Amino acid sequence: MTAASFVVVANRLPVDSDSDGGWRHSPGGLVTALEPVMRSTRGAWVGWPGQPDMEVEPFDFDGTRLIPVTLSTDDVELYYEGFSNDTIWPLYHDVIAAPRYSRALWEAYVQVNRRFADAAARAAAKDATVWVQDYQLQLVPAMLREHRPDLTIGYFHHIPFPAYGLYSQLPWRRQVVEGLLGADVIGFQRVADAGNFARAVRRLLHYETRASGIRVPQPDGTTRRALAKAFPISIDAASYIELAAREDIQARAREIREGLGNPAHVLLGVDRLDYTKGIGHRLKAFGELLGEGRLSVEDVTLVQVASPSRERVETYAHLRDEIELTVGRIDGDFDTVGHTAVRYLHQAFPREEMVAFFLAADVMLVTALRDGMNLVAKEYVASRTDNHGVLVLSEFAGAYDELGRAVTVNPHDIEGLKDAIMQAVNMPAAEQRRRMRSLRRRVLEHDVEDWSREFLDALADARKGAM
Ligand code: F6P
Repeated sequence: MTAASFVVVANRLPVDSDSDGGWRHSPGGLVTALEPVMRSTRGAWVGWPGQPDMEVEPFDFDGTRLIPVTLSTDDVELYYEGFSNDTIWPLYHDVIAAPRYSRALWEAYVQVNRRFADAAARAAAKDATVWVQDYQLQLVPAMLREHRPDLTIGYFHHIPFPAYGLYSQLPWRRQVVEGLLGADVIGFQRVADAGNFARAVRRLLHYETRASGIRVPQPDGTTRRALAKAFPISIDAASYIELAAREDIQARAREIREGLGNPAHVLLGVDRLDYTKGIGHRLKAFGELLGEGRLSVEDVTLVQVASPSRERVETYAHLRDEIELTVGRIDGDFDTVGHTAVRYLHQAFPREEMVAFFLAADVMLVTALRDGMNLVAKEYVASRTDNHGVLVLSEFAGAYDELGRAVTVNPHDIEGLKDAIMQAVNMPAAEQRRRMRSLRRRVLEHDVEDWSREFLDALADARKGAM
């Protein structure tokens, strides 16, 4: 196998296996962003094929070498569902749910991170660039550097990094920070996340941090400079604009509205079914507005797409029960034979159908309690090529830092959320246009290609020692 000069390491491979044994692209933004770089560098991607115990030899797919890392049923339970999604995920999202601190989960995390690091080290050519993605693999940067000091190593953290007061709960807080510091550039979604990380470094390791630079002492007594900085991720905006212009997708949007009984206002929520997304808060606010008669089921429908996620983790299973009970109650109380209050879809849809939903929706509700970025907010904005529609956006989503012209909310404040929904529903067309234009400008000017270019440029500078 020829070694690659550019290697991505992520928990998942950028493909899904289909029913007839083949592979197709998984739809994520990261895959789209990295496609041109992967192709031009004949890069390699190290990741899990998505099913337990699946053993697959490395293979080429669309110009990229894919290097599968097998996870056993136990690995999936302890490393993926356990430490990644039942310890780090709730802790890093401000302990909205209680994190599970278990030594067995930690040991599995260390062991699986080592396997990813070994696979990346084997795949990388001398002096290659390796880009590690996300919280499932926080130990990989240091593990890689230990064996391959020749490599330039980047890490991007897609989720929030919590304030030290919360982060310090983690029994392995020091090891995780040391793991991340193996990278030359550590990218975060928000300036605040990078600041929280730098503070953790100062508190735990007493290293000097200045602006975005961190002085990392080396075994030979010298120091190496790492960069910890915000690189807010974005979407492939052009592809959303293209889909929004398609006649068949516009017709589908009209069909969706008709299917809902042509209400005057369609509200939309699109989320993975995750407790960080504030779906319950959104439903509570909407239900109260119906109960108080400020909205009526003849005029307004809320479409809630909640795609299935991490269903074997107990907190997610409970959340599903809770949300479905709430939806059932609201619909039972307010539906008429011809109109529904909440149209709930526990399904995942292809991108074309999502754009049809975006075009059908007058108001998009993003009410996350904590979210690294929230790309749905950006997808909605990019799709609204007619400059109509209103985005209601939580200040606890990373997107808030860029999309300040949305109707912004604190989702914990149910009265404030209700007022924001009313403001969105009643917003005059001229104001919608003014706000949407400015939101679209930001999303179109800073797309996912800019994001990956800016990160990789910073990494190239780090390599030249030019930071
Ligand atoms: O950014 C958060 C994240 O965990 C990504 O790493 C992942 O692609 C996405 O959410 C979906 O999660 P999962 O891979 O656990 O289904």
